[in-house]
Amino acid sequence: MPFWAPDIGIDLGTENVSIYVRGRGVIISEPALVVLDREDRHTVQAVGDEAGFLLGRSPERLTPVYPIRNGLVADFDIAELMLKYFFRKAIGISYLGKPRVIASVPCNLDDVNRKALTEAIRYAGAKHVFLIEKPFASAIGTGLPVYDPVGNLVVDIGAGTTDIAVISLGGLVVSQSVQVGGNKFDDALVDYLRKECNLLVGNRTAENIKKDLASALPVEEERSIVVRGISQLNTAAGTVSFTSSQAYEALKGPCNAIVKAIRWVLERTPPELAADIMRGGIHLTGDAARLFALDRFISESVGMPVLLAKDPGDCCILGIGYLTENIQLVSPQNKRSEKPVYK
Ligand SMILES: Nc1ncnc2c1ncn2[C@@H]1O[C@H](COP(=O)(O)OP(=O)(O)OP(=O)(O)O)[C@@H](O)[C@H]1O
Ligand SMILES: [Mg+2]
Repeated sequence: MPFWAPDIGIDLGTENVSIYVRGRGVIISEPALVVLDREDRHTVQAVGDEAGFLLGRSPERLTPVYPIRNGLVADFDIAELMLKYFFRKAIGISYLGKPRVIASVPCNLDDVNRKALTEAIRYAGAKHVFLIEKPFASAIGTGLPVYDPVGNLVVDIGAGTTDIAVISLGGLVVSQSVQVGGNKFDDALVDYLRKECNLLVGNRTAENIKKDLASALPVEEERSIVVRGISQLNTAAGTVSFTSSQAYEALKGPCNAIVKAIRWVLERTPPELAADIMRGGIHLTGDAARLFALDRFISESVGMPVLLAKDPGDCCILGIGYLTENIQLVSPQNKRSEKPVYK
């Protein structure tokens, strides 16, 4: 016998999508990826995990599409298709009515982009759509008392965006979203290798360097790895020995951009809430926050304690999950208010 569709929570990341189903928990965590046939872009070859697997096997036949970029719908039709696929995978098709969906969004998303995202989720099969700012969800996911009269500062560093918010009494007091995150770290490494080492490498190689070697602060013990790519000098396969100091140099720009945005938020934080944050520390979530020493770098730069959440990449979906179980909490009080402009 069919049941009513359960409520669904979704963390719609630039790189990863996670889905929470009310009463069942997190049941999907897959790449936010669709692969299309290179010849016929109307033919979808695979979505999510299967798409990642196919892309690793025969990339020459396929066009990868990440329909959500930096929290924005980059390709509406493909986003709808991807969401439909994940909703079906999560709850099947034999239910009565349509699910209510709670989805994560970057802070300060403008109305046009909020509408595009809401529509894509509705077209994919949702009855009602509630949008929740990522740091708010991540704050809940990391166990912060977001509904209490205290200031909490969360910095969610994902693949596409860094979302920063001071949260108190169930709402965002000051917030900012900048398009700096794991992807920008990768781009910075690709650029550095091209300019300083004359070596062309892809973003996947850069991502591996970031995870294995890179650091946001100078390291005490210098390490090096051999990086393979295409030499710019003779356009043949080439290798260079790449050191941790070079990786640190390459990532200075995006790391400083994150600190600049945090300072911007702190400068606009009411003094009482700033005092709470000074006591409780800045909480880092999002998987890109796992960059080695990024927590210490931020702490030294802003002069406040910084705590990296446990399993930082899961905080957002866990918070969304909590709200899915307690959907009465998703109320207009969690709406955005007018914010100063970030320059
Ligand atoms: N150990 C690690 N060190 C550094 N970066 C990492 C590590 N593990 C994962 N990352 C990076 O984290 C990023 C993915 O983080 P996450 O899944 O939180 O992003 P997302 O939610 O998809 O993106 P967004 O929230 O910005 O839309 C990728 O850039 C990935 O390379
Ligand atoms: Mg995210």
